[in-house]
Amino acid sequence: MAKTNTVFVCAECGATSPRWLGKCPSCGKFNTMAEEVVNTKQTPTTGNFGALKTNKAKPLSEIAYEKINRTPSGISEFDNVLGGGIVNGSLVLLGGDPGIGKSTLLTQIAAHLSKKHKVLYFSAEESCYQVKMRTERLGLYSDNLLIINETCIDGLESCLEGVEFCVIDSIQAVYTDDLTSSAGSVGQVRECASKLMRIAKSRGVTFFIIGHVTKEGALAGPKVLEHIMDTVLYFEGENQENFRILRAVKNRFGNVAEVGVFEMTGEGIIAVTDYSGIFLSESRGDEAGSVVTPAQTGNRCMNVEIQTLVSKTSFGLPRRMPLGLDYNKLVLLIAVLEKRCGLNLGSSDVYINAMGGIKLGEPSTDLAVCAALCSAYYGQPIDKYTAVFGEVGLTGEVRVVSYAEKRVAECVKMGFKRVLVPAKNMKSMTKYMDKISIVPILYVNTMIKSLFKN
Ligand SMILES: Nc1ncnc2c1ncn2[C@@H]1O[C@H](COP(=O)(O)OP(=O)(O)O)[C@@H](O)[C@H]1O
Ligand SMILES: [Mg+2]
Repeated sequence: MAKTNTVFVCAECGATSPRWLGKCPSCGKFNTMAEEVVNTKQTPTTGNFGALKTNKAKPLSEIAYEKINRTPSGISEFDNVLGGGIVNGSLVLLGGDPGIGKSTLLTQIAAHLSKKHKVLYFSAEESCYQVKMRTERLGLYSDNLLIINETCIDGLESCLEGVEFCVIDSIQAVYTDDLTSSAGSVGQVRECASKLMRIAKSRGVTFFIIGHVTKEGALAGPKVLEHIMDTVLYFEGENQENFRILRAVKNRFGNVAEVGVFEMTGEGIIAVTDYSGIFLSESRGDEAGSVVTPAQTGNRCMNVEIQTLVSKTSFGLPRRMPLGLDYNKLVLLIAVLEKRCGLNLGSSDVYINAMGGIKLGEPSTDLAVCAALCSAYYGQPIDKYTAVFGEVGLTGEVRVVSYAEKRVAECVKMGFKRVLVPAKNMKSMTKYMDKISIVPILYVNTMIKSLFKN
């Protein structure tokens, strides 16, 4: 087979070069040149430019409704994150740190799918024997689950006869002969992924693609895969803890706010359906600096503990370090507390953490962050059966939040005794009045007065 022509293209400015260069001669950026296949098709210089390959443009009313076919994966939490099951013919990227359990999760799903469908596990990282050992350890067995140990994906189509689902483990370990660069380089990753996309769309095969997260925390190479994929999932968790969180960062067929909670056990990965206590610590309420907030992620509401530590700055510039929360939001809330409530955090380092490795992006956590910070600042613990939620504005007022009723219901369910809610959300609270003490909060100052002794 003749070698395809390739060029190296700068990811920043688009400049091309016939060979790899460390520094782009055009924009001067380092390490931006990635190999790409040259498109040999010539654009016509004369003639009919307007002729499209596909048929004519149609008005919306004439477009036939195509039903999205979904297949259950056998793991309810996984289906949930995908938006209600695996969409047939889609490309799903599963990213995560090495050792987090990506291969385990997809082996389990592949084995489940293979009860009714033909599934191919394309293992570029592990030998067939290693995959077999894993299936034995997890107690999975199926004759419809085919395993191949290969690294070149050029011949993939020849083994897809009758296959409906295919797992690629992993995209960084496979390569195509079209490019000369080594497996795992940006060019290879991108080219292999677009080959898989073409196969997925032409044959209707559903691909699950495993991708390792690089040191910087992005899928190699920097976001190059996300636009090709229909769904991008991240599998996260602290390696030493057994809980794992599956998040969607892009989903063409569902809500990205949905998260799945899993537990890594000796028998494999199990979906956690009772997640109520996972994001809370045993010792909550004993020490100052922690408070619980009911957080809405996708369709579900869960109580998450926020912990803070305020300590004296040893060097000139105070540190602000949020884990699972937004940095800019933390800086903004500190400014509000300093200006509106008289706290002096200018010479203190502030560390803040959402328990259990979950990421909270909602504005409704603002008031809880403020409460936890004040608790750490005053050295006064907040009662463990108190929950707080509300958005905080720059003037120090507490704004309405969505799903207020659902959040209070979750607190009631978990046996909380008191919940601080935005005053403007009080209208919807009447039915919970006898079950839990509901404290309306209009300003951050009101929250401080109702939680702490001065
Ligand atoms: N023999 C075993 N018994 C129990 N757990 C194991 C065994 N082998 C691997 N694991 C668990 O599986 C994890 C690796 O999962 P794996 O799916 O291979 O990760 P990834 O594909 O994301 O790199 C390890 O972190 C370990 O906790
Ligand atoms: Mg693996």
